[in-house]
Amino acid sequence: MASHILVIFSFLAITCSMAAAGIEPGPLQDFCVADPNSSDCINPKLVKADNFFSGGLHVPGNTSNPSGSAVTSVSVAQIPGLNTLGITLLRFDFAKGGLVTPHTHPRASEIVTVLDGSILVGFVSSFPDNRLFSKVLQTGDVFVFPIGLTHFLSNVGNGTAAAIASLNSQNPGFIPIPSTVFGTNPPIADDVLAKAYQVDKLTIAKLQARFKR
Ligand SMILES: *[C@@H]1O[C@H](CO)[C@@H](O)[C@H](O)[C@H]1NC(C)=O
Ligand SMILES: *[C@@H]1O[C@H](CO)[C@@H](O)[C@H](O)[C@H]1NC(C)=O
Ligand SMILES: *[C@@H]1O[C@H](CO)[C@@H](O)[C@H](O)[C@H]1NC(C)=O
Repeated sequence: MASHILVIFSFLAITCSMAAAGIEPGPLQDFCVADPNSSDCINPKLVKADNFFSGGLHVPGNTSNPSGSAVTSVSVAQIPGLNTLGITLLRFDFAKGGLVTPHTHPRASEIVTVLDGSILVGFVSSFPDNRLFSKVLQTGDVFVFPIGLTHFLSNVGNGTAAAIASLNSQNPGFIPIPSTVFGTNPPIADDVLAKAYQVDKLTIAKLQARFKR
C-alpha cells in the first residue's frame, strides 16, 4: 500500500515538474483535441475526423512584404487535434530574392523540404565556434536546423520558391534576431547596443528606426 502511494506521489511530482519546466510530456491518451473554450480536451466521444484536418496548404502565402517571404503555419490553432502531439507544420513562400530572416526556435528542431526553386539555407553553431553550416537546396532537397540554433532561408533562384517544414514542438517559439535586438518594446538603451555591436549610436538609431513596432 505504502509503495503504491509512493509511486503515485512520484508520478505526480514528475508530472508537475515537467509542467513547471514547460516540457512537453508524452501523451497520456490517444488524443486530446483542444477545446477552444477551456484548457481541457474535447470529450473524446465528440471528436471527429475534421478535428485532425486542415485544408488549403496548396495556396501560396502573400509575399508582397519587405522580406519577400510568407510563412503559413499549421499548428494547434488550425488543427485542434494536434494538441499535446508535439508537432507543427509550416509552408514557406518566397518572391524572387525573398528571405526568412535569421531566427531561432527555442523549443524545436526543424526539417525543411524544398517544394520548388533554389533556396540558400544555413544555421550557426554556438559560441565560440559560431560555425555556419550552409547549402543551396533544390526541389526535393531536405535540410535540418537543430533546436535553438540561429538559421535562415533565402531564395537564390530566378523565380519564386516554396518549402515545407516540420517542427517537433506544439509551440516552437519564434525569435527573429534583428527585431529581438533592434525592435524591442521599450528599446534597449542605445549605448548598450552601440557597445555590443561596436558601432556609433547613429547606426543603432537607424537600425532601431527600421525595426520599430
Ligand atoms: C465554444 O463556445 C462557443 C460559444 O459558446 C460554442 O458555440 C462552441 O460550440 C464551443 N465549442 C466547443 C468545441 O465546445
Ligand atoms: C498581398 O499583400 C499586399 C500587402 O499587404 C496587399 O496589398 C495585397 O492585396 C495582397 N494580395 C493578396 C492576393 O491578398
Ligand atoms: C538564372 O538565370 C541565369 C541567366 O538566365 C542562368 O544563368 C542561371 O542558371 C539561372 N539560375 C537558376 C537557378 O535557374
